[in-house]
Amino acid sequence: MKKFAVVFTAAVLAVSVVAAFAATDALVGACIYKFDDTFMTGVRNAMRAEMDKQGGELEIVDSQNRQPMQNDQVDAYISKGANALIVNPVDRTAAEPLMNKAKVEGLPIVFVNREPYAEVMNAYDKIWYVGAKAEESGTQSGQIIADYFKANPKADRNGDGKIQYIMIRGEQGHQDATLRTEFSTKAMKDAGFEIVELGNDTANWDKVQATDKMKGFISAVGIDAIEAVLANNDDMALGAIEALKAEGYNMGDPAKYIPVVGVDATAPALEAMKDGSMLGTVLNDADNQGYAAVRVAVLAADGKPVTEESIGYKITDGKYIWIPYRPVTVDNYQELMK
Ligand code: BGC
Ligand code: CA
Repeated sequence: MKKFAVVFTAAVLAVSVVAAFAATDALVGACIYKFDDTFMTGVRNAMRAEMDKQGGELEIVDSQNRQPMQNDQVDAYISKGANALIVNPVDRTAAEPLMNKAKVEGLPIVFVNREPYAEVMNAYDKIWYVGAKAEESGTQSGQIIADYFKANPKADRNGDGKIQYIMIRGEQGHQDATLRTEFSTKAMKDAGFEIVELGNDTANWDKVQATDKMKGFISAVGIDAIEAVLANNDDMALGAIEALKAEGYNMGDPAKYIPVVGVDATAPALEAMKDGSMLGTVLNDADNQGYAAVRVAVLAADGKPVTEESIGYKITDGKYIWIPYRPVTVDNYQELMK
């Protein structure tokens, strides 16, 4: 019996050793809409880490927020013989020609973070999308604000029973901007609050632009009127906090505090939660989005089946990998600090 156990263990080990050495030699070519994006930098680092484990080659280029440049980058990957593509489109409405380039070559293509239209996703069999359901993040961020108002009646600074808020949106046309805006306001209403929008504008996911926009709102409506700030991502939430700090707010005095929520759970946002200047965020899981994209690309490049078992993530409709969001509050942010 004992001897059998030893032999059995050895056989299992032998198999796993073989598996560890059965590395891919695929070349995967990836384009990121722009390197200068905090969240996508997290995805990029996770892609690199996963490919280091897989043993293949991963090239990643910066599309510098220019769609024509990205189209050329895809052409270049095809001419140098890439076995699969990972694309974070500059403009998600311009994904069709990229899909067609891959289709003509029979090359697998994995889109990430910016979701192509369904017609494009349905026009090819070697296409996947890795992302997150923006509705969830909108709902969760609205709930964080609603919970805060329930627990802190004084947050209703003018005592009218309504939440007077500012909305800072991401890039126009990005599914995450549209859906987070819609579902965060819906969540506050569903929680039983009447809401009043004092200002709403895009800051293109960008911290500096958000500071400018927030300063504009403060001078337009007055700091005393503002009871909450919802931003479609953490960089913009942090930008809004800069503008609040310039007024002496969110620096420790409880009488001068306006709750701000974002989305992503980036390292600087977690720091801001720690120092008390930011109320909460929602984890947009960059690590798992990056790992999943590379696993799909490598398997497809090697001609192996892409299944839930082979990638370790749930697959919807054969081509969508949705990585769940998670609310991040004062109760759990520490778990996410690296
Ligand atoms: C993230 C943003 C990021 C954008 C880039 C969103 O999912 O929340 O932080 O700028 O993706 O496309
Ligand atoms: Ca109020």
